Amino acid sequence: MTSASFVIPAREWPVSRNRDVKKYVAFGDSLFKGFLLLALLCITTTTGANEILARQNYILNCQGCHLPDASGSEGNVPKMNDFVGYFLHVPGGREFIVQVPGAAGAPISDQELADVMNWMLLNFSKNELPDQFVPYDAEEIAKLRKEPLIDMHHRREELIARIRDKLGVTEY
Ligand code: HEC
Repeated sequence: MTSASFVIPAREWPVSRNRDVKKYVAFGDSLFKGFLLLALLCITTTTGANEILARQNYILNCQGCHLPDASGSEGNVPKMNDFVGYFLHVPGGREFIVQVPGAAGAPISDQELADVMNWMLLNFSKNELPDQFVPYDAEEIAKLRKEPLIDMHHRREELIARIRDKLGVTEY
């Protein structure tokens, strides 16, 4: 009787200890998973915030002329949807689409304009972009904003001719 009552708790002790250890391991594991989830959430919300901001900046600074779907208006504002990405295939095109007055002169920071340009290209003209599309960054935008665009209409005609010759794309 005494030996039996002594044996049982002695066996139980390591078992319950083992359970505690398992609990700690499980806690550590869920903590780790929690961190992962939090990290993932941070990344997604940051990207999301940039996108939302870029879209808002398009609405505030570009949409008035270019329209919500970037279709523009014939004879006045060029259609950008399903087209503007072609500029990135030809020399000078990457610079041109930032240096046009509406873009370069927008009252937003270099970073914000970079985000608008990237958002605009991916949102309205993803299929026309080159495979190795390199997004704009603030540094590139700052440099381009300092170089004025000379003879814009002639420059555009040149670029459109290059797009036609290289890709066989006629304007729209
Ligand atoms: C006041 C009207 C207006 C606003 C605002 C405006 N644009 Fe434009 N955009 C034009 C017009 C008009 C053209 C054609 C070239 C010209 O006459 O300036 C053009 C041309 C462009 C082009 C070249 C497209 C092509 O096919 O030649 C791009 C890219 C562009 N704009 C981007 C933007 C972006 C990005 C913004 C906002 C940050 C913006 N524009 C704001 C009117 C505007």
